[in-house]
Amino acid sequence: MRILIEKDYAAISRKAALMVAGQILLKPNSVLGLPTGGTPLGMYQELIRMYDRGEVDFSEVVTFNLDEYYQLPPEHEQSYYYFMRHNLFNHINVKPENIHLPKGTCADVEKECADYEESLRKAGGIDLQVLGIGVNGHIGFIEPDQRLSVQTKLVSLTKETIAANSRFFAAPEDVPRYAISMGLGAILNAKRIILLASGKSKASAIKETVNGYVSAQTPSSILQTHADVTIILDQEAASLI
Ligand code: F6R
Repeated sequence: MRILIEKDYAAISRKAALMVAGQILLKPNSVLGLPTGGTPLGMYQELIRMYDRGEVDFSEVVTFNLDEYYQLPPEHEQSYYYFMRHNLFNHINVKPENIHLPKGTCADVEKECADYEESLRKAGGIDLQVLGIGVNGHIGFIEPDQRLSVQTKLVSLTKETIAANSRFFAAPEDVPRYAISMGLGAILNAKRIILLASGKSKASAIKETVNGYVSAQTPSSILQTHADVTIILDQEAASLI
């Protein structure tokens, strides 16, 4: 694992955007694995600025998001589809047909998960996977559990995750309890992974990710087994390592 400690959130965002842009410059038809949440917002803003300056072209890029809330329609303001459109896709030239997110309102969730895996397989897997991390060490919505899920599947969100996500909803009871999440198979199959973390609340999860045992109780710890992981932290997120 390579660990980069930056001075603040803006510096993490800039470094991550440079890595994503570098990936696209080297391979214009790259398959990107993308997260939502507060952490990647600065990186997305930086990528939009690079696109506006003509420094990066997304016309051949293919994207797969890590997760989507179960039963939230794409037009719902808290759906991850909405988040990605408003924070990235509407501002760059990625082709709509190259964008993939699990469908939260699918009629048959098992089929949706199998179809998502199949689309990933057909795309040739992920070239660069960008990850955030939950305070409990989740990546995507692979939550701490007795077992780690390898395939895309419907997952129940833990109390910590529901509490952390409630900041985006009008009332805590509005936060979805389930999500469709990519599994570890697709994440670990990515050729390169970058994980971003900012703030004190992530320091303990980062410590376990970097120095802890590989354990289903800290799903991010499995990244220790991948050959090309870069973790980009601000001072606070790095404060316990
Ligand atoms: C979201 C995702 C999650 C988030 C994590 C951190 O697509 O995959 O694993 O990355 O919950 O969220 P923030 O960045 O809001 O702290």
